[in-house]
Amino acid sequence: MDQRFSIVTAIPYVNSIPHIGTSLDLLGADVCARYRKMHGDKVWFLAGTDENGLKIREAAEAAGKSPQEFVDEISRHFIDTWDAMNVRYDEFIRTTEHRHIEGCQEFFRRLQANGHIYTGKYEGWYDVSTETFFKETDLIDGKSPDGNPVRWVEEENYFFKLSAFEQPLLDYIEANPDFIIPDAKRNEVIGFIRQGLRDACVSRANPGWGVPVPGDESKVIYVWFDALMNYVTGTGWPGDPTWDQRWPADVQWLGKDILPRFHATLWPAMLMGAGLPLPKHLVVHGWVLWGQDKISKSKGNVVGPVELAKMLAQRSGCSEEVAVDAVRYYMVSTLPYENDSSFTHDEFDRCYNSDLANDLGNALNRSLAMAHKFCEGKVPDAPVELEAQAAIRTAKQGVEAAMGVYRL
Ligand code: ME8
Ligand code: MG
Repeated sequence: MDQRFSIVTAIPYVNSIPHIGTSLDLLGADVCARYRKMHGDKVWFLAGTDENGLKIREAAEAAGKSPQEFVDEISRHFIDTWDAMNVRYDEFIRTTEHRHIEGCQEFFRRLQANGHIYTGKYEGWYDVSTETFFKETDLIDGKSPDGNPVRWVEEENYFFKLSAFEQPLLDYIEANPDFIIPDAKRNEVIGFIRQGLRDACVSRANPGWGVPVPGDESKVIYVWFDALMNYVTGTGWPGDPTWDQRWPADVQWLGKDILPRFHATLWPAMLMGAGLPLPKHLVVHGWVLWGQDKISKSKGNVVGPVELAKMLAQRSGCSEEVAVDAVRYYMVSTLPYENDSSFTHDEFDRCYNSDLANDLGNALNRSLAMAHKFCEGKVPDAPVELEAQAAIRTAKQGVEAAMGVYRL
């Protein structure tokens, strides 16, 4: 009782509006938050938006807007979407906020003071779409490993001594076998680290958009470096004396594409370097696919969760409130835990008609009808049959075991 339980979620880029893939972190986290609250835990839940970097600046330009105007609009769109989807977080952090910028600079200064940052020349390839640096040998046919175009970058920059954390990270993952959930993802990360970690280039020439490197306005902090820090700035670091009630987070929700390079290596190494505690669990999900493709803004095959609910309400005649619950149920029950899963309208309709209307809906209607017919519409004051008690116990144990490993 009254155990604190803190949840943080990957913060989506605001280069474009939310889709059902980007809603997985929030929906999963919200279900998890409600479940822990039912258990009597003191739950605290953080969401936010990732608003710096070249990708955002270029998206704003393409839309003919100033970066600030653009990120304000899209961040609002995310907030409205989570509201409409009944997601109830406790705090929302935008990486363009003052408190974030100041926190990042303080984090950076600590890493410098602890001897983990040095300057040098960066020469290599940059993929703006995933905001990732690559070596020549990482490229496949002149593109990033994900098939995105890359551009040549040659700059004086700041580097973070990520290579020094190779062994500490491996040791940590070994000592904390449930740091990365599920197991298959942990094994992937171990393999990734064993291939060797290179020092990370953690600044870019200042494009007029981003968090300035403290003491050097000619550079901004590399967007991934700044975005990861949202988990601590959003929980109140460094100023808030109650910070330790929210950090370390019990769970961090994220998708598999941002695990090996970022959340399972760079992020914990940054925390180790700054002398801050690591999150307890990283819960990783696969992708929602559209046919064979990842649903993604850059591919343009996007379905929004709210649109999906509106379409269902129109087609089925149910209220929008019910439709929102149906989308939440569908997304969470088909949550790609170990593998990816394809979204289809047919499968969504089947889930609505069969799982919700026929199974749960009918069970409820029949129970209510019988309660009226035989028990004067009241829950009878009588002992529950032993057989039913046993079935309830088994179901409850099953739910608790699954929720304990975030298998929603
Ligand atoms: O990666 N299926 O932002 P993002 C499942 N800003 N999950 C998906 C998905 C899909 N089709 N598409 C995206 C970023 N996601 C960074 C995060 S955190 C410090 C910075 C998930 O907008 C993705 O895996 O590209 C990630 O967890 C989240 O949505 C935001 O993705
Ligand atoms: Mg992405």
